[in-house]
Amino acid sequence: MANSGVDKGRRRVLIAATSVVGAAGVAAVAAPFLNSWNPSARALAAGAPVEVSVTKAEPGQLIRVIWRGKPVWLVNRTKDMLDTLAGLAERLKDPTSEEHPEQQPAYAKNLARTREGKEQYLVLVGICTHLGCSPTYRPELAPADLGADWKGGWYCPCHGSRFDLAGRVFKNVPAGKNLQVPPYYFKDEKTILIGEDGGKA
Ligand code: FES
Repeated sequence: MANSGVDKGRRRVLIAATSVVGAAGVAAVAAPFLNSWNPSARALAAGAPVEVSVTKAEPGQLIRVIWRGKPVWLVNRTKDMLDTLAGLAERLKDPTSEEHPEQQPAYAKNLARTREGKEQYLVLVGICTHLGCSPTYRPELAPADLGADWKGGWYCPCHGSRFDLAGRVFKNVPAGKNLQVPPYYFKDEKTILIGEDGGKA
């Protein structure tokens, strides 16, 4: 149910964003339209940072927000989930984020792909690095369709790319890069601001 609320919100933002593009070429019409538009929706479409309370995500759970019109995930990873990361290097294309450093800010170029001391909370842009579908969160261990060595992560239904619980891409799939970590920082212990480094990059 929580997701459907987010989805509705996303639809609203997308509809609003589409309307702005349509109005942009007709300045006389655009001005009154923009004046009447909800200021927070306008800020979101323009790329304003998005604030998320980490308390919304139960252990193991993923929550979705929209930032710059894109799906962004916040995952509250358990210790067991984090423990899966170290043993996967051989099966990954870019396990240490060396090949594509642009896929995360410098502070997230580490095993957990997070800010130091906040490894529990993973923030990812939820867009497949192959052709842009949104991968499906599959946190379960060894489901029948993904195989006995599956330790949790994301599966892209479009062409079968797979990513681990840090968003790192597996070998032998079409996607070539790890999922993107957007800029973010902790405003306080419970609140993440997605879209800004907070001057602590
Ligand atoms: S878009 Fe994800 S595998 Fe092709």
